Amino acid sequence: MFDYALGGKDNYLADREAAEQVQEALPTSLAAVLENRRFMRRAVRHLLDAGVRQFLDLGCGLPGRGNVHDLVHAADPSATVVYVDNCPVIVNHYQALLSSSSVAAAFDADVRHPRDVLTHPTTTTLIDFDRPVGIVMTSLLHHIADEDDPTGLVKTFVSAVPPGSHVVLSHYNPDGRPAEDRAVAAAFATSFGIPMAERSAAAIEALFGDLVLLEPGLVEAPLWRPDRPYREPTGWLLAGVGRKV
Ligand SMILES: C[S@@+](CC[C@H](N)C(=O)[O-])C[C@H]1O[C@@H](n2cnc3c(N)ncnc32)[C@H](O)[C@@H]1O
Repeated sequence: MFDYALGGKDNYLADREAAEQVQEALPTSLAAVLENRRFMRRAVRHLLDAGVRQFLDLGCGLPGRGNVHDLVHAADPSATVVYVDNCPVIVNHYQALLSSSSVAAAFDADVRHPRDVLTHPTTTTLIDFDRPVGIVMTSLLHHIADEDDPTGLVKTFVSAVPPGSHVVLSHYNPDGRPAEDRAVAAAFATSFGIPMAERSAAAIEALFGDLVLLEPGLVEAPLWRPDRPYREPTGWLLAGVGRKV
């Protein structure tokens, strides 16, 4: 559905139909998918400017246009990128795309088990834990229920990386939407069997733990360091970048 919303070609009839149902009921929802990707790109470019040359994209989703490795390798072809998702179809797509790369790779793992990700041979080959790492978690943590301890999960990843590392995070937050839209969104998530944790802005900010939130803090995604005029935020998503000091 994300791929379809982003104008991609790697989607099935069921994805397109479901995305169209959502779009019809919630016309701004697909624009939120674009807001999310544009935020990710601005944040990754910021990390590149800050000298980060290693990236771990957790819950990466299907490759499309302007993936993390596309941005990173435009700046530095020797920089490394590791993609992780627990969906084998997504991982297959990335593995096919990156089959001839020695600096970017993908594997299948569940981020609820950070040690499995951190100790995976692909990670330990491509990521040097003595140098800053950009940990990308866009539109991921709302799929992780409180009982799976998303705060602890972020903390474990952050504890493995040195100062100068960053976490790029966006999270579902429909506080800016009317109550009926929120109810419709929740009903879609239930009908698709996709867990969606609704967290307050304070709860999302708490996911950053001890990281220092870069200016402008946790904001609606298009308001995070806009690089050009954007449409009004859709009100579905908060985003921010934290730095380990
Ligand atoms: C909404 S998509 C976001 C994709 C991409 N990060 C983006 O921002 O466009 C969420 C992704 O997280 C993955 N995901 C959800 N739970 C996960 C888990 N426990 N471990 C790894 N990946 C997970 C899903 O398979 C999906 O690809």
